[in-house]
Formats: sequence, C-alpha cells, structure tokens
Amino acid sequence: MSRSLAFLAVILPVVATAQTAAPQLTANPIFEKQCAKCHGKTAEGRHFAGPSLVSGKSTSLSEEELRNIISNGKGRMPKYAGKLTPEEIDTLVHQITQARGK
Ligand code: HEC
Repeated sequence: MSRSLAFLAVILPVVATAQTAAPQLTANPIFEKQCAKCHGKTAEGRHFAGPSLVSGKSTSLSEEELRNIISNGKGRMPKYAGKLTPEEIDTLVHQITQARGK
C-alpha cells in the first residue's frame, strides 16, 4: 500500500509535465471524460475522429462559434447542450481559447 503510493508520487509529476500542450483544458475532468476520446488526450486531435482543438483551422473560431459547436454539435461532433451545463461549456470554451494561445 504505502509502496504503491510512493510509486504514484514519483510517477504523477512526470505524467503531468508530459502534457504541456493545453494543461488546463486537458486537466479538466469533463474534457477527459467527454472530449478526449475523439479530440485526443492532448486536444491535438486524433486520426479519423475529432480535429485538433488547439492548432490549425479551429484556432480561427471565435468563442461564440466554439460555444455553438459544443452546444449544438457539428457533423460527427455530438451536441452537449443538455449534457453539460452552460457554465461547464463556458469553461471549456475559455480553456480552448487559452490552450491555443490566442
Ligand atoms: C464522437 C466524437 C467526438 C466527441 C466525443 C467530441 N467531439 Fe468535438 N468534434 C468531433 C468531430 C468529428 C468534429 C469535426 C466536425 C466537423 O467539422 O464536421 C468536432 C469538432 C469540434 C470543434 C470545432 C473544431 C473545428 O476545427 O471546427 C470543437 C470546438 C469541438 N469539437 C469541441 C469538443 C468538445 C469541447 C468536446 C467535449 C465536450 C467534444 N468536442 C467532443 C468529434 C467529437
């Protein structure tokens, strides 16, 4: 028990610093649970699934457009209005715009 805790204490900071691309966004449990399966653990996108949220074409989307896509869905992107609260969606929008660095 105490031995495995010591192992975690060593390994967790390594895992945390490895994901520097979008730290707040990718540390958000909602992102990890709802979005990472399609947009990737680092939000950089995954083949055949969701596009990167932090580079490329999505960086030109305004906060309004981001909120709209997350709320209402788009193509194969599911809609999250009703699944997430407006506050949770707002947080994701802010974290996405922060993660992509303006
Ligand atoms: C089932 C897979 C899937 C899940 C789960 C998912 N997405 Fe998506 N997402 C997509 C796909 C596919 C697109 C591209 C849609 C298109 O352009 O036709 C997309 C597009 C987007 C876009 C627009 C990006 C762009 O460049 O147009 C945003 C923003 C986004 N998703 C955010 C999220 C967030 C935040 C979550 C979690 C709440 C999430 N997505 C969950 C598949 C998914």
